[in-house]
Amino acid sequence: MSFPKHFLWGGATAANQYEGGYLSGGKGLAITDTITGGDGLNNIPRYMTVQLADGTKTKLERGFNTEMPAGAIAYVDPDYYYPSHVATDFYHHWKEDIALLAEMGFKAFRLSINWTRIFPNGDDKIPNEEGLIFYENIFKECLTYGIEPVVTLNHFDCPLHLATKYGGWENRQVVDFFTHYAETVFKRYKGKVKYWMTFNEINFLRDYSMIGITEEKSNPQRLAQAIYHVLLASAKTVKIGHDIDSQNQIGMMVAYMLTYPQTCNPDDIWADMDVSKDLRDFYLDVQCRGYYPSYKLKELERQGITLLKESDDDQLLLDGIVDYIGFSYYNSLVTSSAPEGDSTGGNQMGGLKNPYLEETEWGWPIDPIGLRIALNRLWNTYQKPLMIVENGLGAKDDIAEDGHIYDDYRIDYLQKHIIEMEKAISLDGVDLIGYMPWGCIDLVSAGTGEMRKRYGFVYVDMDDSGNGSLNRIPKKSFYWYKKVIETNGEILKGI
Ligand code: BG6
Repeated sequence: MSFPKHFLWGGATAANQYEGGYLSGGKGLAITDTITGGDGLNNIPRYMTVQLADGTKTKLERGFNTEMPAGAIAYVDPDYYYPSHVATDFYHHWKEDIALLAEMGFKAFRLSINWTRIFPNGDDKIPNEEGLIFYENIFKECLTYGIEPVVTLNHFDCPLHLATKYGGWENRQVVDFFTHYAETVFKRYKGKVKYWMTFNEINFLRDYSMIGITEEKSNPQRLAQAIYHVLLASAKTVKIGHDIDSQNQIGMMVAYMLTYPQTCNPDDIWADMDVSKDLRDFYLDVQCRGYYPSYKLKELERQGITLLKESDDDQLLLDGIVDYIGFSYYNSLVTSSAPEGDSTGGNQMGGLKNPYLEETEWGWPIDPIGLRIALNRLWNTYQKPLMIVENGLGAKDDIAEDGHIYDDYRIDYLQKHIIEMEKAISLDGVDLIGYMPWGCIDLVSAGTGEMRKRYGFVYVDMDDSGNGSLNRIPKKSFYWYKKVIETNGEILKGI
């Protein structure tokens, strides 16, 4: 095994799925706090509780298929259960949790700062000191164990107030609110945090639940403008972060949607390229090269969309090229120019069935070699250090009679992916600097809102309705991962 000496072995979390304390310590409401729990195995979606412009209260399916009507705003309804409100309560368990991560030998811990904990409304002038102290204590605690915090500035957290008052990210003012927040935390945590990421899975920020925009489907101009603002905010953030501390390493974060054309029919190959550009490559191109690629400009032109820009924007995008690429990888997908037949699930979206791959209980294809393909493509295209900041198996865990959790299926999944990572490093020369599997301590699923879809090395006693002691129990994978880290991957040799 040839993992670099200082390889960042660790794990990843996100505030809205892990932290809880949704109104504690001065935190404000984020849109994620208005999203209900669903049931992925029985196709019950997550909803947003919403008040329509005429005052009617209702719920709308969260996701890419629904459009938020003009004038509607999300709200918290006492009759519903919202998993983000308590989540798995990192808010009250952070010391205990970081000690568990340290016991596994973590070198890095990815977490996100919840924007509404620092600026409860998003547009506040003065930050919430209690929120700043909360994360400061966490970073200090990590550092005492030699754990490098890897911080996402925005993991699906849009302050509700910014949606209600400003129309979300379609409004250019939100760029300034965001960069004010970024500047505040860069200054406050200078010397404590070195690795940052701007927007989690930036390629999926497309609807009200993520960026607070309405009517984005019926009016593609609105969506394009909002995406432009997000990319601009990311670039501005990178520049500010570098100006504040030249040691800062500021990355992007993309969901690496690896797609395979269903056949060698050139129509399928073209359809696949088209989907990849829109879903993935565009975001990488802008953040790694500093400008909108020609295919996107042509597409906007065809759609009759004119982006509203200010004079120094182009320079800003160039100044905001990222230092590294962080990405999530869970599965690959099959595309076709004429989709027909069985389909599968997958992270955020599904595809056609791949007859060569097994699937998880939630129907996500399992494709470890796909990770090596993704690593090669990213490295060869952009020549930037790579960090896998999400990967893992969402599965149900049972507590055996002896009180243990024997999650061999999870070990098997992770092991196969780590082996492909190693090949990418040793055989293909890819510059991979870290591996942070998702949900290292059990947390709420973003896609389904379930607790039973677990990813962690540590079990948290909590169910889909919010009942449970929140006690933490290390699983079998906890001890396995500890060995992987201890031996810098050598334990996997020969497997
Ligand atoms: C990514 C997100 O989409 O995948 C995480 O960044 C999410 O927030 C993870 O939890 C796994 O998806 P899910 O739907 O199983 O939680």
